Amino acid sequence: MGFPQQVRLVEVGPRDGLQNEPGPVIATALKVELIDRLAQAGLRHIEAASFVSPKWVPQMADGDAVLAGIQRLPGVVYSALTPNLQGLEAAQAAGATEVAVFTAASEAFTQKNINCSVAQSLERFAPLIERAHRYGIPVRGYVSTALGCPYAGEIAPAQVAAVSRDLYRLGCYEISLGDTVGVGTPLKAKRMLEAVAGEVPITHLAAHFHDTYGQALANLYAVLEEGVAVIDASVAGLGGCPYAHGASGNVATEDVLYLLQGLGIATGVDLDALVATSVWISDRLGRRGGSRVAQALGGNPAAGTCATA
Ligand code: HMG
Ligand code: MG
Repeated sequence: MGFPQQVRLVEVGPRDGLQNEPGPVIATALKVELIDRLAQAGLRHIEAASFVSPKWVPQMADGDAVLAGIQRLPGVVYSALTPNLQGLEAAQAAGATEVAVFTAASEAFTQKNINCSVAQSLERFAPLIERAHRYGIPVRGYVSTALGCPYAGEIAPAQVAAVSRDLYRLGCYEISLGDTVGVGTPLKAKRMLEAVAGEVPITHLAAHFHDTYGQALANLYAVLEEGVAVIDASVAGLGGCPYAHGASGNVATEDVLYLLQGLGIATGVDLDALVATSVWISDRLGRRGGSRVAQALGGNPAAGTCATA
């Protein structure tokens, strides 16, 4: 398998990014503006909200207001995380155009993250997926800790493959493989992907890599070579996971886009507009952005043209 000609970028910054911001709850208006700017930059799949317990993740408590506030562009998927039927009902009422269920390859992480076992999570998802399909809402599935667990350590590729297969069979159209703590390295990522691709067609797999150890781009290159054509990323590298202590944000969307442009892979996303959004959100959050590309181009977006193959 060679590199894909085209990659769909799934922008998870407004959810995976902002869910983990320390300090006061971020204003709904800021979340709405971020999502609108990302859509205007050409992103066509934006994870906009989470309908989880507000006691567990206070930053995501305003998902309905966020989805009510955005200016929906035609052709853009505005998705939301839903751990149970209660979440699905709220997401559907708020007009999410897609939902995502989430579990893990690790029992320990699943307990910490959603307070149940992996098997119980799948039991919970079965009626959720069925009902979502009745509503005409596609369901994506996440498998966290695909390259390692903050509690259990090493995770066998076969464990990731088994949970991915179960989610796919339950009706998830795409399985996103999460390196939740960003501990993976390219060979490990390749081996894990090969195991999962034995159970789920590679065209239905996505890579969701965090960048804690600075390996995310290298890991993405490894799975791109295998033919993965869907990549989750977070503008400015925002975020982490509240139930994976020490995990940094997702790989930055700008950095992924720069890599893909260099490989001649199309995404439909405008690098200059994305960098401007990255600089803007980092400034609004009062933090240094996590994207090397945004740091390099922030003051001089035109320099980005040298990245094109
Ligand atoms: P629980 O306490 O076992 O649930 O939590 P429960 O059913 O016993 O309900 C307890 C309370 O939560 C009740 O309220 C429910 O109404 C409420 P109370 O009666 O106490 O006032 N509740 C809800 N409220 C709003 N929306 C809901 C909902 N469900 C119950 N959907 C639960 C179980 C799953 C709800 C909880 O553990 C939870 O919300 N967990 C979410 C954790 C989370 O969001 N983690 C971050 C996202 S995952 C991630 O970042 C990884 C990923 O990026 C991939 C990767 O990087 O690997 C996706
Ligand atoms: Mg994540």
